Amino acid sequence: MSGSIFVGPADRVFVLTGAGISAESGIRTFRDAGGLWETHRFEEVASPEGFARDPRLVWKFYSQRRAQMVDCQPNAAHRAIGELGRELGDRLFLCTQNVDDLHERGGSSQLLHMHGELGKTRCQTCCRPAFADTSGYLDELPRCTCGGALRPDIVWFGEVPIGLSAIARALDEATIFVTIGSSGAVYPAAGFVHAVRHHARAIYVGPERPDNDWGFDEVRIGTAVEVVPSLFQVPDRAAS
Ligand code: APR
Repeated sequence: MSGSIFVGPADRVFVLTGAGISAESGIRTFRDAGGLWETHRFEEVASPEGFARDPRLVWKFYSQRRAQMVDCQPNAAHRAIGELGRELGDRLFLCTQNVDDLHERGGSSQLLHMHGELGKTRCQTCCRPAFADTSGYLDELPRCTCGGALRPDIVWFGEVPIGLSAIARALDEATIFVTIGSSGAVYPAAGFVHAVRHHARAIYVGPERPDNDWGFDEVRIGTAVEVVPSLFQVPDRAAS
């Protein structure tokens, strides 16, 4: 089945995005051939233990990611999700595992970055809120005014993702659940499809089947840019 998904007035849509939605914008995924975890050990650059052992290496890794993000542009899939948000308002819950800002630049104003944000930094010690920061820290290790170590505002392996209560509520309410470009290898996000199994239609979009494909009603094979712009049909849009 490959037609558009009809979004009726009573529907609530949960969209989960992964690295695949940003792949066509030039941001490397993690687990594909040539993905980030092929050239970096995630224990070293994406864990609290790695940061404690070698904060310079961790900052070098995220500084490179920050520099790359600035050069990348949102693609048609990000823009289509931005438009869907304008049409559905709070009937769309957009949750991304991505730490880039391409959804925002693609027009999404309401979204949850469950794995943090590349463009923010926070203090490891004090409760100062995370702040916008795209500096590249390649030599000096940055320190907070409290003296504590500053770290990227990223949820690392072994840490608890952001917004799990809001996510659980939105999953409960969803009637349509769509995952775009995520391998289904990392929990808890890979388990969201299980949570909606009995009350929502679940669709996966990506160039290959994800590890958790058993949970989806449909798998649409194609890239985000190929599939997402025509994925949703919202009645008002069809009428206009
Ligand atoms: N369009 C859609 N999907 C694509 C595209 C594309 N153009 N290119 C690749 N993909 C798919 C791949 O088939 C793969 O299933 O994107 C997925 C990327 O998978 P991962 O690299 O594992 O990324 P993701 O699932 O987002 O990773 C989850 O793992 O390392 C952590 O914190 C990191 O948030 C990340 C989490």
